Amino acid sequence: MIQNPICVALDTPDVARAAELARDLKPHVGYAKLGMEFFYANGPEGYETVAKEGLPIFLDLKLHDIPNTVAAGLRSLMRLEPRPAIINVHATGGADMLRAAAEAVDGRSLLIAVTILTSLSDADIHQAGFAVDRSGRDHAAALAKLARAAGLAGVVCSPQDVREVKAATTRDFLTVVPGIRPADAEVQDQKRIATPRAALDDGADILVIGRPITGAADPAQAARAIAATLMRQEADR
Ligand code: C5P
Repeated sequence: MIQNPICVALDTPDVARAAELARDLKPHVGYAKLGMEFFYANGPEGYETVAKEGLPIFLDLKLHDIPNTVAAGLRSLMRLEPRPAIINVHATGGADMLRAAAEAVDGRSLLIAVTILTSLSDADIHQAGFAVDRSGRDHAAALAKLARAAGLAGVVCSPQDVREVKAATTRDFLTVVPGIRPADAEVQDQKRIATPRAALDDGADILVIGRPITGAADPAQAARAIAATLMRQEADR
């Protein structure tokens, strides 16, 4: 297992706040995630300020466009210093786009693909015209298979899809899972959720956790408490 599987989502446009959180949380988490909200506001310079705090960065920009544009975008992102540990595209971009993305990244970051957003229920997925004849879970597994065949290292999926994704691919195909809520936390806009412990039990490799940590009065304490539940699980195994 990855040493500390917690990836804290630093969803803020404020560079100083994100850097402060990265510094305070470094002893308690394994990764920090920067997404659109941060990167659109602060660009490569803001990214570098946070990355310098030393946590490996998951740059969650979810690229989704034609193969040539996605590959060119990723080549630009590969110039970031330090390079993101993990970077992602949407699996629904299709096989050619995924292959072009893998070629552009060329093993310099772990490239993963978003399957189905964890904020979508099966009804939402069908309404959007996806997976009309199957469940969101089967659709996620099929997209994971496509991503693996294209040479990607893993997927972003709901904790509820991890077992199917692993069964459709291989054990070492990474599953990065948002939609994680400690038992006593608010669900907010997430729908297909699990507790950190249940997600890890199902075989998830990296747990993306945002508001339950960053929205806590004491984020370091919240991260420490979540990490403790995961360690107990390792001891129980
Ligand atoms: O605050 P919360 O724990 O819900 O944060 C989850 C993070 O994971 C957010 O940054 C969100 O954009 C991201 N994410 C997600 N579902 C996906 C992919 C990414 O919630 N399928």
